Amino acid sequence: MISKRSNLRERITLITGANGEVGHGLIQHLSATRGASNVVVLDLRGLDESMRGLVNRVIVGDILDNELINLLLNEYEIDTIVHLAALLSTHSEFNPETAHRVNVQGTVNLLKLAIEQGKTRAAPVKFIFPSSIAVYGLPDLAEKAAAGAVREEDYLYPTTMYGCNKLYCEHLGRYYAHHYQQLSATPSVRLDFRCVRFPGLISAYTMPTGGTSDFAPEMIHAAVEGRPYTCFVGEDAQIPFMVMPDAIKSLLMIAEAPASALRHSVYNVSGFSLSARQVADRVRRDFPDAHIAFEPDKSRASIVSSWPVDVDDSAARQDWGWSPEYDVDRAFDEYLIPVIKDYYANRPKAN
Ligand code: SER
Repeated sequence: MISKRSNLRERITLITGANGEVGHGLIQHLSATRGASNVVVLDLRGLDESMRGLVNRVIVGDILDNELINLLLNEYEIDTIVHLAALLSTHSEFNPETAHRVNVQGTVNLLKLAIEQGKTRAAPVKFIFPSSIAVYGLPDLAEKAAAGAVREEDYLYPTTMYGCNKLYCEHLGRYYAHHYQQLSATPSVRLDFRCVRFPGLISAYTMPTGGTSDFAPEMIHAAVEGRPYTCFVGEDAQIPFMVMPDAIKSLLMIAEAPASALRHSVYNVSGFSLSARQVADRVRRDFPDAHIAFEPDKSRASIVSSWPVDVDDSAARQDWGWSPEYDVDRAFDEYLIPVIKDYYANRPKAN
């Protein structure tokens, strides 16, 4: 019966939270390289009209809706889940319990979906999960400076609900991947959980919403658009960043790595580390008249202070050949500045 049912179902990749900036980047990349006609997306807000034609189906829905999760199980054979849906760190601090429901219960629902799918397939379901530098919590600026690039297992004392949620979900992924294997009379792997911890992400096309690393993308987009910008962290605030093409590259690389190469389920990835002042200086090279002021917001600035100055991504480099395409010069000169300039120059004018 089971194999008959699986034959009837269309084989797909499911992307949750697809209307966010990583989702857009991933769909655009898949569509341009290998096609996204097997991609089904799930997002509370649907998918921007410009992208709808690129994917197989857009489901407007909530990852907390168990009926919807069951429908997905009945209708599709899901071989990969890219679970992007989450409330980011600043947003989550305004309503931590809601964040917990979305970020943790939502992830449990998707992990359970993967486990159920795994029962009907010969191969385990791949579960690709973006975690974050928010899982780290450095106690003070002196320790942050002394720690330098932190390894995956160090300083795991998140100060935000989002960071707590991401760290816990990393553990849940590892738990679900092993738990059912141990319980089963005929052990088989149903879930192949793989996670990258992202630094602050910067896209030339979209702005993040509700994150705390947003000061960098906001500053860059404001300068190109000719708007003044007031930065919510101090000039010395420093964390690692990565441009969107590298974020997409890391998701695809970890998804495609042979299971035998992966010594861990969670890997740091990084692009370059910059202070807010250095971001402003880079922006002023191209836009000398940019108006950038610094008026730190106490709570947002303290979140950035608790994040590491950089992360050590040597395990990803060793195990699955990770290396970013974009250092800081290439990120600004070949991606951010020209692409954002082009975007604002060609955007339809409001009447
Ligand atoms: N960009 C995320 C945030 O600021 C951190 O990973 O919440």
